[in-house]
Amino acid sequence: PIASDCISTGHLPAPEQVRALVDEAHTRFGPCAEGRNADYIPALAAVPSHLFGICLAGTSGQMYAVGDTDHAFTIQSISKPFVFALICQSIGEDAARRKLGVNSTGLPFNSVIAVERSTGGVTNPMVNAGAIATSSLAPGAGAEDKWRFIRDGLSRFAGRALEIDAAVYASEMSANQRNAGIAKLLSAYDSIYFDPLEATDIYTRQCSLRVTARDLAVMAATLANGGVNPLTRESVIDPIHCQHVLAVMVTAGLYENSGDWLYDTGLPGKSGVSGGMIVVAPGKGGLATFAPPLDAAGNSVKGQLTARFLSERLGLNLF
Ligand code: DON
Repeated sequence: PIASDCISTGHLPAPEQVRALVDEAHTRFGPCAEGRNADYIPALAAVPSHLFGICLAGTSGQMYAVGDTDHAFTIQSISKPFVFALICQSIGEDAARRKLGVNSTGLPFNSVIAVERSTGGVTNPMVNAGAIATSSLAPGAGAEDKWRFIRDGLSRFAGRALEIDAAVYASEMSANQRNAGIAKLLSAYDSIYFDPLEATDIYTRQCSLRVTARDLAVMAATLANGGVNPLTRESVIDPIHCQHVLAVMVTAGLYENSGDWLYDTGLPGKSGVSGGMIVVAPGKGGLATFAPPLDAAGNSVKGQLTARFLSERLGLNLF
């Protein structure tokens, strides 16, 4: 029994217990055949569906990895909380809340109705409308400066220089009418803070950055560690901004399923359509999974099973 098997303590269980449970999750959920790769971005449909990696990074820099944790995939929506963090750091949390909102939409991540329903205000930085508006707030005179700010900031979270997957970027740009439409709609309401199509391009580039489950675990552990990357020891954002980002992840990280997610795991999480998922256990560490098949809401099936299992067995649930 560890941490009474489900009650949160201030630290991760002993290393050999963590290792055994991470391995057990991989063995248990590896055979699950539910879900399907995303295909609205054509390049994502071609990623092998069997890939499955789990990585847990502790706030003291301990790493537990099993399976395909060095396989690179595109970060997609998991970029959203990190870019929001960088913008909070850049313009302050009050302006970020005023301009971007921090409430759940209760609607899918690419909803146009959500924009209209909030009379043009964006509702939160985890859904596409709010995330494109967030990227539009990056400091810099032009698109290239803004892009550099975002790419360099995300790289500091990961502790290494992240690069774009050109094929996925091109594939998404060829099928990006919906995001471009959302950005233009926001501009009709003065709710986007740079040229809407250029902001959409920057957002699409950020979604196309290549990461591994190991990178995502370090990024999540940085949010668990008051903004200090546990491997490089660099302070990427202030602790206060971690608290705000984690609050928004709890509210909207899994879109319209955020309530079910919180009920199951008791932790802030964020998913992406390429099959990645992160979970943040404040003070303890970051969990990342990669497994492309998604459920109907666009969240990795194996990722959710793993998060629920490890939250319970490692005693991570905040409540
Ligand atoms: O904008 C999009 O549709 C993608 N670049 C990201 C969507 C995404 O990852 C949703 N997550 N579950």
